[in-house]
Order: sequence, then structure tokens, then C-alpha cells
Amino acid sequence: MIPQRWQEFLNEQRRQRTEQNLARKIRILRHQPAGRVLLGSQELVNFSSNDYLGLASDLRIAEAAARAAGRYGWGAGGSRLVTGTSVVHHELEGAVAKFRGTEAALVFGSGYHANLGLVSALAGAGDTLFSDALNHASIIAACRLSGGDVRVYKHRDYDELERLLSGSSAKGKRLIITDSLFSIEGDSIDCARLLKLSERFEALLVLDDAHANAVLGKRGRGVAEVQNVSARIDLVTASFSKALGSFGGFVACSREVRDFLVNSSRPFIFSSAMPITLAAANIEALRIVAAEGENLRQKLAGLVRTLRTKLQAAGFEAKGEHQIIPIVVGDEQKALAYSEALENQGMLVHPMRFPTVPRGQAMLRVSVSAAHTDDDIYRLVNAFKIARDKVTGKGTGKVARREAKRPDETIEVLDDSTMTGLNFSEVQALMAEAMSVEAGGDEPTDLAPKPAAPAEAPELAPSGTATIVKPESEAQADATTSAETLHPELAVEPELPKEDPPLASDGDAKTVRRTQRVKKGQTRIHKKV
Ligand SMILES: Cc1ncc(COP(=O)(O)O)c(C=O)c1O
Repeated sequence: MIPQRWQEFLNEQRRQRTEQNLARKIRILRHQPAGRVLLGSQELVNFSSNDYLGLASDLRIAEAAARAAGRYGWGAGGSRLVTGTSVVHHELEGAVAKFRGTEAALVFGSGYHANLGLVSALAGAGDTLFSDALNHASIIAACRLSGGDVRVYKHRDYDELERLLSGSSAKGKRLIITDSLFSIEGDSIDCARLLKLSERFEALLVLDDAHANAVLGKRGRGVAEVQNVSARIDLVTASFSKALGSFGGFVACSREVRDFLVNSSRPFIFSSAMPITLAAANIEALRIVAAEGENLRQKLAGLVRTLRTKLQAAGFEAKGEHQIIPIVVGDEQKALAYSEALENQGMLVHPMRFPTVPRGQAMLRVSVSAAHTDDDIYRLVNAFKIARDKVTGKGTGKVARREAKRPDETIEVLDDSTMTGLNFSEVQALMAEAMSVEAGGDEPTDLAPKPAAPAEAPELAPSGTATIVKPESEAQADATTSAETLHPELAVEPELPKEDPPLASDGDAKTVRRTQRVKKGQTRIHKKV
């Protein structure tokens, strides 16, 4: 029973949201391959996702998860320091480090968690954190959680950052943290300038590369690689949920920082390990990006160029620099009207409103994916023109005719037979097959037993790994939240099993190609396999 005072609070919040055109609702979609979704029976080209390389519907990733589920089961069953770390997590961290070109990496449950886990462990009372005004919500939360003094500088205003650094006390530690490619504005940082400031003021520089990871740079190492300074960037956080098409987050760092986080990052220590299946899916996503990323990035860049040129030619100001293109319309109601009119043309473009952007600066955030086609881009530009006619009151006859044809948006009951995207019965078959491999079946898989690792420690194993397991029960680790019960000195990493598989490398991770089992027309994604 919700107390009266609380009910009044909730009612008032709802009233304000509605009055200010800020109410949000969850829309239930069916995700499809090729950058599309179904809303009821209407197919929409999805220009709102972070699936920049089109991997979210790549069945090879689902297959990798299915194989891991068949071999190891679904969940990790505990926090990383107790019983949650499997050989698959270990392999994933090696693969991340290799992909990012760092000594080591540490995986978290999400990108949000990675920011919380890194920043709250590194900085504390007496330290100063310098944060871009338009940093992601997870960075803002992380800075607050650290307990340090937070100084916010105007978006990408490095003169102001310099002034703030000069005026700050040199007693505590200093940390500069910023998105590298800003998730809504689509603009990016000046790495060289930030590096200079970080060196001059002995401030640790942390980049959140969530939207640039795997998308930008020759090897997909993000904004710093585009600006030719990736070797000088020591600390990066990113997410598996954007271009890698999956879920989870990571910190790419030195062995020393990893070891520090393992021993003192509360979001790492007191949260369960990501499911083994997810870790396996993430390894496969990294393998695909290492093998095919360059082509995908080239295709994406071409689509982005075309879209920008055409939007500008049509009189829209296409901001941003890369695959995120904000079209600022200002008024919240106008943004909603644009989005609706675009949707009527079969284009899904989400309106961004307060608190995601400041009040009165609502926008349409267009995000392009390598899964899109040239035709999708032309259709989007045309849809924008028609939407503008509708919103500004011109050409309404044309729009009205299209609206009349709009299919019913009734949400149907989800049922396997109506799913035209991923074929789940296939995934089930794969799981059964993986189990039979476990029981002596004959087809090799990525996760089938591998030859024992060489006797020497794996290249990316954390240095100084302790070999005792901490005397703290899993239940305690999972349930503990108070500072008094945190004993970082006891939190040591469990010894890695002797038969750890070798870390993933570009060449050795086998792709199990299963095209032959896919019936024609079942799913478009199999063309890629
Ligand atoms: C810059 C940035 N950092 C972190 C995150 C959080 O990542 P995740 O979705 O994996 O929690 C996001 C998510 O949108 C983001 O845009």
C-alpha cells in the first residue's frame, strides 16, 4: 500500500510530465534484421538504435551464446571474486584487451556499471573530478558516487577546463572524464588538447568510448585512434551494447589498474558476474568486428556521408561528426510531431527531450547503421521533408493521404510462428547440439574443449594474482552493501584454472558456419554467415 503522501507525489509527477510533453512510454517492438523493427504490423527502418554495425541481429552471436549455454548453462551464479568468473569471462577480457590494444581489461555488467565501477574506485573525498557538461548520465552518477569534488566544464570548452584545473587544489588527485563521441550531440573531443592538459596538471584522463568503440578508427579503437593518439590513452570505458550489438561493459586499462579495480571497485565486487552466455556472445562480437569491422565501418561512413549531404541539401542542419546526427527542433511538442510524421513514413527516429537534452532543445537523434541501405537513406531524407511539411502546416494533404494508409498498431501476442527475425527454434537446436558435443558429439565449436594452455601464465592474466580464495561467502558478497563489511584487502582473485583456453586471437576463433541448415527465406541475416 503506497502511503497517501507518496501517491500525491506520483500523481503530481505524472501531471507535470504530461503537461510539459515529457511523458515517456515503453514501446514494444519486434526486432528484425537489416536495421528494421516491427511496430504492430508496421515495418519501420530503425534510425534510433546504437547498433551501428548491424551486429545485434547477427545470428553468429546468438549461436555463440547458445553453444555456451549448452556447455556451461546460463548464468554465472555469483560475483566475479567468489564463484562467478569462468574461463569464458577470462577469455573475454583477453579479447577486449587485444581489441583495444591495452595490457588488460575488466568486464562489468553494463557500460553504466563500468563507469560507476572505475570512477568511484579511483577518486574519493579530497580528489577533484573534471567532467564535460554533456557527459553521459552514467559518468555524472559515477562522479557523484566517488564523493570527490566535481567541476563541470562547458561542453568541449577546453579553455574553461584549463582554468578550472589551474584553480583547483593540487593536494588531492585530479581526474578528467569525458565521453569521446557524445551520445546525443554526435560531436567528439579533442584528444590532443585533453592529453596536454592531463599531462600538465597530472590529471588522469578517462575516455568513455561507448559510441565510438568498434565504429571509429582503423582497428575500431575509437576517437583516439581517428586522432592518432590511441597509444597515449591509458584508460577507456566502453559498452558491448552499441556497435558490438550485445550487452555489458568494460574498462580497458593497464594490469595495475585492473588489479586495483578487482580489489576496490564496489560495483565490480558486489555485483554478479555477467552470464557466461553473454560473455561468449561478446567474444564472438569482438571476433566479427576484428575480421569484418573495417568493411562495415567503410560502409557506415559512406551511408553517413550521403545522409549528411542530402539532409543539408534539403535544408536541415545535420549536426555531429559521425554516425550520430542530431536534428535540433527546439520545442518538445514539435519533436514529438516530427517523430510521429517520420514514423508514418516508415522511419523510426526517436525524439530526445528533457532531461536527456536541456529544456527547449528537443531534437531528433538519427543514428545510422551499416545494416542500412542507400535506399533507406534516400527514404529517410524524403520522410524528413514530408514531416517538415506536416509540422509547419505545408503540404498536409499529401501527409494526410499517407496517414490514412497507416496500418493498425495493435500489439499482437508474441509467438514464435509470427517472428520473422531471429529463428529461435534454430537456436534451440544449436543448444541441443552443443550439449551433445559435451556428451561426445563430433562437431567442434568455439567453446568445445580446447588444448591446454601452455604452462606459462596467459599473456593477459593480471599480474600478482593471488592464489587463495577469499574467505567470504558468496551470499555475503552478493548481499553486502555497507562500507563496514567491505574488506578490499580480502578481495583477491581466484586462481585461474590450469586448462584456461588460449586467449582469442584474430585467427584462432573458429566461426561455425551453419548456412546449410538455414532454409531459404527464413532470415535475412544468414546471408552474412
Ligand atoms: C557515453 C555512454 N556511456 C555509457 C553508457 C551506458 O552503456 P550501457 O548501455 O552498456 O549501460 C551509454 C549508454 O547509452 C553511453 O551513451
